[in-house]
Amino acid sequence: MERFLPFSGPAGKLTVLSMLALLNILSAPLGHSQENPIYLWCSGNTNYTAGSEYKANLDLLLGNLSAVPASAGRGHFRNASIADWTNPNAVYGLVQCRGDVLAADCASCLNRSASAAVLRCPLRRRAAVRFDYCLLRFSDQKFFGNMDDTERSSLVNSNGAPDPLAFDHRLMDLMVEISSQAAAASSKFAVGINNSDSSVIYGLVQCTQDLSESECSQCLQGQISILPRGEIGAQIHVASCSVRFETSIFFATLAISPPPPPQNRSLPSPPPPLPANNGGNGTDVSSGGKENTSRSWRIILIIVILLLVAVIVLLLILLIHFRRRIPKGLPLNLVKDQEVITAESLLFDFRTLKIATRNFSEANKLGEGGFGPVYKGLLPDGQQIAVKRLSKRSGQGLAELRNEVVLVAKLQHRNLVRLLGFCLEEEEKMVIYEYLPNRSLDNFLFDPIKRHVLDWERRYKLIEGIARGLVYLHEDSRLRVIHRDLKASNVLLDENMNPKISDFGLAKLFGMDETHRNTSRIAGTHGYMAPEYVIRGHFSPKLDVFSFGILTLEIVTGQRNNIVSCDSENPIDLVSYVWHHWNEGTTLEVVDQSIADQCPRHEVIRCIHMGLLCIQSDPSDRPNMSEVALMLSSFSVTLLAPSKPAFVLNSSMRSQSEESRIDTDYQSSERHNSNQSIYRPSGQSINEVTFSGVEPR
Ligand SMILES: *[C@@H]1O[C@H](CO)[C@@H](O)[C@H](O)[C@H]1NC(C)=O
Ligand SMILES: *[C@@H]1O[C@H](CO)[C@@H](O)[C@H](O)[C@H]1NC(C)=O
Ligand SMILES: *[C@@H]1O[C@H](CO)[C@@H](O)[C@H](O)[C@H]1NC(C)=O
Ligand SMILES: *[C@@H]1O[C@H](CO)[C@@H](O)[C@H](O)[C@H]1NC(C)=O
Ligand SMILES: *[C@@H]1O[C@H](CO)[C@@H](O)[C@H](O)[C@H]1NC(C)=O
Ligand SMILES: *[C@@H]1O[C@H](CO)[C@@H](O)[C@H](O)[C@H]1NC(C)=O
Ligand SMILES: *[C@@H]1O[C@H](CO)[C@@H](O)[C@H](O)[C@H]1NC(C)=O
Repeated sequence: MERFLPFSGPAGKLTVLSMLALLNILSAPLGHSQENPIYLWCSGNTNYTAGSEYKANLDLLLGNLSAVPASAGRGHFRNASIADWTNPNAVYGLVQCRGDVLAADCASCLNRSASAAVLRCPLRRRAAVRFDYCLLRFSDQKFFGNMDDTERSSLVNSNGAPDPLAFDHRLMDLMVEISSQAAAASSKFAVGINNSDSSVIYGLVQCTQDLSESECSQCLQGQISILPRGEIGAQIHVASCSVRFETSIFFATLAISPPPPPQNRSLPSPPPPLPANNGGNGTDVSSGGKENTSRSWRIILIIVILLLVAVIVLLLILLIHFRRRIPKGLPLNLVKDQEVITAESLLFDFRTLKIATRNFSEANKLGEGGFGPVYKGLLPDGQQIAVKRLSKRSGQGLAELRNEVVLVAKLQHRNLVRLLGFCLEEEEKMVIYEYLPNRSLDNFLFDPIKRHVLDWERRYKLIEGIARGLVYLHEDSRLRVIHRDLKASNVLLDENMNPKISDFGLAKLFGMDETHRNTSRIAGTHGYMAPEYVIRGHFSPKLDVFSFGILTLEIVTGQRNNIVSCDSENPIDLVSYVWHHWNEGTTLEVVDQSIADQCPRHEVIRCIHMGLLCIQSDPSDRPNMSEVALMLSSFSVTLLAPSKPAFVLNSSMRSQSEESRIDTDYQSSERHNSNQSIYRPSGQSINEVTFSGVEPR
């Protein structure tokens, strides 16, 4: 919105606002019945009882919070608590109105929210309610400053966008841009418009104001990454933030510039009307006489067009005027995060790393990844790092490599391990990552004791998080990275057990024919590789979808993909095992025993269903990652029936380390031309693998 800053003069504002009022009428009600919140989350470990002290405190708090001082500006925010944390009946609450909403509308929205919270979350100690214009949240725990996206609601306007690819591209750019504006602003709110194509996209994002810049941006990114593709409108709400876009206007566009109150403002201009409040019949076009309405529509249209022209002219004049006066340094902040990363800022000195890892000692070794060993290191400033020392061979020149590292360093997402830098010296190539104390997912998932840490809720979050990371890699980032080696040991866990995908971008960095559709060198890990890749070397994002499907099944069942079942005479791999039970209607039997009694059946079954969809043999049948993310976040999306995962690992060679990667040389066979060796590239022989179709029973 910074673009529209010039609009703070009362005259300009009035014009713009009255135009907006009209525009709002034109653009028909976008909202939902104001009776139903667009977001509702009732929670809490215990319930309070009627007449309890908690209830009294809650009423007090709600009464207090829903009062909006008349002097409040747009996007009113307040947090408050009754009693302190030593009191078991303490209540904490927060209210916030959308950043373009004036105090009066804010007050009426909050009034409605307060009633709705109590009515719809009876006796619950925690609740969050959101209507179009405001959010109200209370809890028995202090939650201020903590990002929370546990519960999500999403709404989609599913009229396909005309040119989905271009549309999505513009949409993502717009949303990412306004997200960083919002995160940096104290209002934690931003809107933006992209009208560079035939369709106009209006975007709005907002976090609650108690969040820090990084938490806000994390929250927004998380939601943006799962916005549905190819649609002309959608909104996603979590407790800590909201994102929304439409192709028609739904916010008070030009009026939201935070005007530094220079003097008394003239009386508040007409506020943007509440959509569909059913308060009067004025906006209800269909109920009026036909002639009357079409005439008034025409008049409105004409007025709008006239006003638009006036506004544009005014805007231009003011813009030019303002440009001249604006101090040079100011707008630069807007591009800050994007361009600051340079090769130099990422460069690590070899000696520093040598000291940090105690000369790459065995004791500091964390493990051996696909691209070389990984060491734990401690920098002089106390920061812990993970240093991946790459095997020497790499197809790229140093300059190219540097550029690629810089690009990959820009891929920042909460579900990706952060690349901190690199070192190219003395024949050494190293990449430096943030260190994650909980190591990798396989350490938990396949450990008889530690697996209990992963209750169902955590597992679901893992699946969701990994999906979001992949959506980002595939679709949102500028690089469109295909990971190609997604597996449990490449998913690291932070201190809160959030999943972070590691090793992404390495395949790209270290040059494996990335730009070609086919590759002659197959790299990956047994059991996670899609058939079209193993057999023909084809790759596409659907490759990662396949691996993701396998990983999902592993997370739900707690079994490695290559289990040799209890019956070692008759080994059966995970996929056949799950598929068998799926067809028998005994799907729940495959669920990990340590979570079997605590998980909601429909969620588990949905995850398995989704997993099976991801490992279908035809890549074009598999959903893409953003569809997967949508399936996970919205239970209203119906899933198709999965076709048979025709291609299943023959587990006879399974006793060997599952981590060993195939680099080259294997024999493969398809069902219908078995034993026909399709590939036999030269190179060191590592493992012989055979693949075959397996009937479900
Ligand atoms: C609290 O009450 C709601 C209904 O009002 C009920 O669904 C929920 O199970 C209760 N929770 C607890 C922990 O008793
Ligand atoms: C809300 O509480 C604050 C602090 O306790 C108090 O200053 C304020 O007057 C209260 N407002 C209302 C409307 O009750
Ligand atoms: C909402 O407003 C009505 C009347 O305007 C008032 O009676 C009611 O107490 C208000 N509710 C809350 C929760 O403030
Ligand atoms: C709209 O988005 C496209 C693609 O991101 C970008 O090139 C263009 O400059 C944007 N237009 C406006 C007016 O922001
Ligand atoms: C409001 O939230 C901030 C953290 O964002 C916290 O420091 C402050 O104490 C809270 N205010 C109240 C009244 O609890
Ligand atoms: C602003 O208006 C208020 C009353 O509306 C008045 O008391 C105050 O003096 C005015 N301030 C200025 C700077 O005009
Ligand atoms: C709206 O119009 C309908 C019929 O068109 C009428 O029955 C109703 O009373 C009107 N409501 C208001 C608030 O004017």
